[in-house]
Parts: sequence; C-alpha cells; structure tokens
Amino acid sequence: MENLVTMDLQATYQGKKVFLTGHTGFKGAWLLQWLRLLGAEVKGYALAPEQAEDLYNLLAGDTLCESVIADLRDAVRLEQEILSFQPDFIFHLAAQPLVRLSYEIPAATFTVNAIGTAHVLDAVRKLAKPCSVVLITTDKVYENKEWLYPYRETDRLGGYDPYSASKACAELVINSYTQSFFNPATFEQHQKGIASARAGNVIGGGDWAKDRIIPDIVRALRTSQPVTVRNPQAVRPWQHVLEPLGGYLLLGAQLAGKPLEYGGSWNFGPYAEDNKVVEELVQAALRIWGSGTYEKPVLTGQPHEAGLLKLDISKAVSQLSWKPQYTADAAIAETLHWYKFYQEEPAAIQQFTIGQINAFIPHED
Ligand SMILES: NC(=O)c1ccc[n+]([C@@H]2O[C@H](COP(=O)([O-])OP(=O)(O)OC[C@H]3O[C@@H](n4cnc5c(N)ncnc54)[C@H](O)[C@@H]3O)[C@@H](O)[C@H]2O)c1
Repeated sequence: MENLVTMDLQATYQGKKVFLTGHTGFKGAWLLQWLRLLGAEVKGYALAPEQAEDLYNLLAGDTLCESVIADLRDAVRLEQEILSFQPDFIFHLAAQPLVRLSYEIPAATFTVNAIGTAHVLDAVRKLAKPCSVVLITTDKVYENKEWLYPYRETDRLGGYDPYSASKACAELVINSYTQSFFNPATFEQHQKGIASARAGNVIGGGDWAKDRIIPDIVRALRTSQPVTVRNPQAVRPWQHVLEPLGGYLLLGAQLAGKPLEYGGSWNFGPYAEDNKVVEELVQAALRIWGSGTYEKPVLTGQPHEAGLLKLDISKAVSQLSWKPQYTADAAIAETLHWYKFYQEEPAAIQQFTIGQINAFIPHED
C-alpha cells in the first residue's frame, strides 16, 4: 500500500486545481505552501489574515494562490467561487477554531463550523465533475469521557463546549450529505469522494493564535515574561502541523484513486505512548529556546476545558498506511527552531518553512 514516503504526491497534485478554505490561517498557510511545492494550482477562500506576522503574510501567500477573501456564511459567493474554479480537490479548513472564543460567540461558531460545512457541500453537489473533498474537523468531536482509552472513528460524537459541539455537528452534516447526495451506490452519477479528517492539537511555526500554548510560550519568551501555564497536568496529543497535513494530502490522493474505499472519517494523531502533559511541553520549549521561566497560577472561574483526549490512529495506520513521522520531542524542537529562526532572520522565514516541509517526508533512498 502507498504511504507518505512511497506515494508520489507530486504526481497526484501537480497541475491539479485545489480549492482550499482557510488558506489565510495557520494550518491553511502551511498546506498552501506544501501544495504549491507539489505543483498544484490553488484557489483560497477565507477571511483576511489578521496581523502582519500571520504565516500567510510571511509566506507571501497572495503570490502563491488566487486568494478570495470572503465569508463561509455567504453561501452564494462560496458556490460561485467553487463552481467557477472547477476544482479537482477541496480541502475545507476554514472554521472558528478556538474553544474559549466559542464561549463568547457560540451561535456564530455553530454557523461558521456546521452550516459553513453544509455550504461547501452544497456547492460540491452542483459541481459536475469528479472531485475529492477532505473536510477538516477535530479530535474534539468525540463525546469526551475523560477516560484512558483513545477514541476511535466509530465512537460516539459529542461536545461540551460550543466549538467541539459545532465540529461534531459538522461531522453529522458531512455524514448526512454523504448518504443523501454522495452515496457510494450512486457514485457513477456524482463522482465525489468525501472524507472527514479528525486531528488533535497541532504545533508548528507561525501560529500566533490567542490561548494556544505554543504562541503563548513564544509571546512570553519574546518579551522576557514568565510563561503562564493554565492546565499544567492536561494530557494532549501534541503533533507537528505537517503530520495531519500529510494525512490530508495522502487521504486526498487516495480518495482521487479510490473514492469509495477511502471515504468516511479518519483520525490523525501521534502514537498513544507519545502524549505529554502541558507542563512537559513547556519545560521542553524553554530548554530549546535557551532561556525563560514559567508559572502555574491558581485560576478560578475558568470555562470548562476537556482534560484528557487521545486518538486511536489504527485505521489511518492500517488502511491509509499513514503514520506519524515525528515524536512529540521532535515536533516541539521543529516548532521552537522555527520561532527562533524567525526571531533572528525574519526575512528568510519562507525558505526556512519550505526547508521544514522538504525535510518532513523522508526519502526512500
Ligand atoms: N490548530 C489546531 O491545533 C487544530 C486542531 C484541531 C483541528 N483544527 C482545525 O483545523 C482547521 C484550521 O485551523 P487553524 O489552526 O489553521 O485555525 P486559524 O484560526 O489559524 O485559521 C482559520 C481559518 O479559517 C478562516 N475563517 C474563519 N472564519 C471564517 C469565516 N466565517 N468564513 C471564511 N473563513 C473563515 C480564517 O480566515 C482562517 O483562514 C480548523 O478547521 C480547525 O478547527 C485545528
């Protein structure tokens, strides 16, 4: 079976049209750069980048793709942009992705994440050509039982906070559209492969989001402040951003060849034994940065955050031949090296980012 090492992603994506939502975001900008290295023609659809230091800007994203700045909630515009482009692939990453923000804007989070996904699939219904569609949700779609066992794709969906629940809703939307409009039994008519990808927290250079641990660490280090660690004992499956993106690309490639076999949902996470508590991540980050301190304030009145969450990746490993390339330690090192390099040589960060992408996939020779 083909895997990330043996699969010729270039042969799959070279010259192909890829519609990428969320291209101005953290994961989207990495995927945009990777797709361009593979020779794809990319049209992006998202809101404008928020700050000068967003990875999209650092990579000169506007030179890498045709960039449409528009809202997922604008179904008419979204459909126009998809249909006029006639994509071979769609990667849907755009979302309101922050748990804490979802407590402030719950209804908008549901609209963007669940209805926005329906808008993408509505446009796909009208696309009269073969297309492979990978829709990105999250590991938080599972009903979190705070138990030791990793979650499998067949486990019950749930979600305590509005973000998690909105992504679980997106999964229900995807499942409903797949059964109703992209059913394997009628494949010859619709010619669509539809899959959802569930990955956990990712880390990597160029993330400046509020309330995410690595950006919080880097912001503190850059200003010589102590790092504030909110949930030091929370277990998280850390993985480098390139890990799930490699999974999405592999999944997209397999969907294009065998849409019926590779449809459905897929977990992408680190090996179970490679989970770390937040405090260990912070300690490793400070070691690599070479300076800095952290503190663990006693916080009261904080919104509920899930404590324990592991993904079972057996399905992706056995059926997709996908596997993590980096240990948690390597992922942390790659990430901190990116920020250190950016601190020292900001003008060369695109080349450094490309170097990290090229180094990520080991070559067979
Ligand atoms: N970063 C993580 O650790 C993580 C973990 C699990 C899942 N995810 C998922 O991966 C995807 C990308 O996350 P990210 O970390 O890059 O987030 P991000 O905030 O960096 O990027 C979000 C993207 O979505 C776009 N967007 C937001 N609201 C929109 C709207 N109403 N209309 C159009 N575009 C809109 C933004 O402009 C941006 O391009 C999301 O679906 C997220 O839920 C991320």
